[in-house]
Amino acid sequence: MAKYNVYVTRLIPVEGLTLLRETCNVEINPEDRPLTREELLRNVKGRDGVITLLTDRIDGEVMDAAKGIKGFANYAVGFDNLDLKAATERKIPLSNTPGVLTLATAEMAWALLFAVARRLIESEKVMRSGAWQGWGPLQFIGGDVTGKTLGIVGAGRIGTAMALMSKGFAMKVLYADEVANPALEKELGARKVPFEELLRESDFVSVHVPLMPSTRHLFNAKTLALMKPTATLVNIARGGIVDDAALAQALRERRIAAAGLDVFEGEPQVHPGLLEVPNVVLTPHIASATVGTRLAMANLAADNLIAFFDGRGPLTPVNTPAVRTITPSI
Ligand code: DGY
Repeated sequence: MAKYNVYVTRLIPVEGLTLLRETCNVEINPEDRPLTREELLRNVKGRDGVITLLTDRIDGEVMDAAKGIKGFANYAVGFDNLDLKAATERKIPLSNTPGVLTLATAEMAWALLFAVARRLIESEKVMRSGAWQGWGPLQFIGGDVTGKTLGIVGAGRIGTAMALMSKGFAMKVLYADEVANPALEKELGARKVPFEELLRESDFVSVHVPLMPSTRHLFNAKTLALMKPTATLVNIARGGIVDDAALAQALRERRIAAAGLDVFEGEPQVHPGLLEVPNVVLTPHIASATVGTRLAMANLAADNLIAFFDGRGPLTPVNTPAVRTITPSI
């Protein structure tokens, strides 16, 4: 039987591709860097399936270059890099990797929250510089976490996981979402509130919405101004949901106390204003970067491709219902 022809746009944990390799010829970008646009357009040609990354823009042009493709499997839960409309018009199914990275990303939100609240990075730098003169009652005084109010913006899988992890810290939990989350309300007594009320009342605001036209710059000069001057913003979701220029200004002017950011507008660029202020902790989009999670993401992306090939349609579809309506055979 002819093997399917698969391309992977960057090296991912190869153990996750074992099953795929049994039935497919798998070619992987040999260099540990994103493909250029030209390379992407060239390498998708003639493939049955492609595993893409959040750094690959998969639009109509790429889809046309991949004529005959059975589907793109995105190695990420976020799919703002995929043009859903173009894919659906071309009857190309798309998948993502939800579920398998929920806990790792929620843990990273907590890691940032604590790093900011307890000033870990600043104090670690002092240790390494040799400047520490011994214990001092006024050194590196941070903020309390236990008993404070946690505001979850977007109570989907990851937002819910982060909120549930707050149990040990006896926090009051507010959430803003279009739909109610009965699990959060039952487990934590969490309250669904309007976004603006969440901003006004929370000590820690954590972002968990996807990047879409309606969430672009959800956090801007106007909405950041609603937050408490003592509050912290955590973003492990996507750059672009926060207006980084407005955030840098709010941090510089201490209109909010601090921020912990894993994602940035225009990655890998970081707004220069964010690099200048001391009250922000910056990490390089690593929320899902644990051994188990990255392997599970590879497995799921591979399983999605196999499901494209055997006609089941993606296991974790992004646009499949629309595709199915048009082509019931997918
Ligand atoms: C995702 O999956 O969307 C993360 O941002 C990267 O793992």
